[in-house]
Amino acid sequence: MNVGIKGFGAYAPERVVDNAYFESFLETSDEWISKMTGIKERRWASEEQDTSDLAFEASKKAIEDAGLTPADIDMIIVASATGDMPFPSVANMLQEKLGTRKVPTMDQLAACSGFMYSMITAKQYVQSGDYKNILVVGADKLSKITDLTDRSTAVLFGDGAGAVVIGEVSEGRGIISYEMGSDGTGGKYLYLNKDTGKLVMNGREVFKFAVRIMGEASTRVVDKAGLKSDDIDMFIPHQANIRIMESARERLGIEREKMSVSVNRFGNTSAASIPLSISQELENGRIKDDDTLVLVGFGGGLTWGAMVIKWGK
Ligand SMILES: CC(C)(COP(=O)(O)OP(=O)(O)OC[C@H]1O[C@@H](n2cnc3c(N)ncnc32)[C@H](O)[C@@H]1OP(=O)(O)O)[C@@H](O)C(=O)NCCC(=O)NCCS
Repeated sequence: MNVGIKGFGAYAPERVVDNAYFESFLETSDEWISKMTGIKERRWASEEQDTSDLAFEASKKAIEDAGLTPADIDMIIVASATGDMPFPSVANMLQEKLGTRKVPTMDQLAACSGFMYSMITAKQYVQSGDYKNILVVGADKLSKITDLTDRSTAVLFGDGAGAVVIGEVSEGRGIISYEMGSDGTGGKYLYLNKDTGKLVMNGREVFKFAVRIMGEASTRVVDKAGLKSDDIDMFIPHQANIRIMESARERLGIEREKMSVSVNRFGNTSAASIPLSISQELENGRIKDDDTLVLVGFGGGLTWGAMVIKWGK
C-alpha cells in the first residue's frame, strides 16, 4: 500500500512581529538577527488563541482538502511541545473542536521533529490496514514559553500549525523512505525550565548537532529510497536557522533554488515549521504532483526525523 498525504492545511496567526520589535527592550538588532538566523519576522498568536486553536484552523483545511469531513477521521495525532495544558492532550481538545467520532487521540512530543515523528507513526497505522484516515497536526505556540529577557532565544521562535490527512494514495506516491532517531544525552541543550516555564537553549551545541544530523539523515533517506540528489525536486528542512539549512543543503548536494525557505517569514515554529514551509511552496506553485520531496527535522531531545515523499494523492 502507498501511504501519503491525502489532504493538507496550514495556519499562521495574524500578528506579525518584526525584528525591530525586539530592539526596544533587548540589546539586539534587525541586522544581527537577519545575518545570524535568516529571520525577518515571525507570527505570534493572541492571548486567547492557544495551541489547540491553531491546530483546529489547520485541521479544518486539511480535512476539506482531502475531500473528507471530520466524521471520516479515524485517529488524531498532534505533535506539540506547547500543549494548552499538560492534559488533556491537544489531540483530545482538537477532537472536541472538530466534532469527530470518538476515535483515538494522542499527542506526540519530539519537539521540532514532532511533525516527522507523527507522520511516520501515522503511516504505520495506515499500512497495517487498521486505520484509514489519520489526521496529523504539528502545532506550537512557542511565544508562551519564550523568555523575552534572553536575547539569544527570544528572537528565534514563532507560532503556527500545519495538518495533513495521512492515508492511502495512488501507486508511486507517498512516503518512500524515512528515518527517526534521538540522543537523550543532548536533552540538556534544549529544554523547558520547570521553574520558569521558559525555554532554555545552548545555541552553539544545538547548532553543531543540527548541522551534522540534518545533512546525514537527509542523505540516508535519499539513499534508502534508491535516489540521487539530482532526483530531488525540493528540500524542505526544519526552519530553525538559515545557516543550518544551508549547510544541510550543501551536504545533500542540492541547488539553492530547490530548498524551501520560510524561516524569514515565520521564524522557528517547531512542529509547524515543515508544514508551514510546504504551504508556502504550494501557494507559490513550487510543489506539483509527483514531485520528490525530502523533509527533515531536528529538535529538543535531541531528536531528528527525515523522509522522502512523492507528492500527490
Ligand atoms: C542562536 C544562534 C543564532 C546564536 O549564534 P552563535 O553563532 O551560536 O552565537 P553565540 O551564541 O555564540 O553568541 C555570539 C554572540 O552573539 C550574542 N547574541 C546572541 N543573541 C543575540 C541577539 N539576538 N542579538 C545580538 N547579539 C546576540 C551573544 O550574546 C554572543 O555575544 P558575546 O560574544 O558578547 O558573548 C545559533 O547558536 C543558533 O541558531 N543555534 C541553533 C538554534 C536552533 O536551531 N534552535 C532550535 C532547535 S529546534
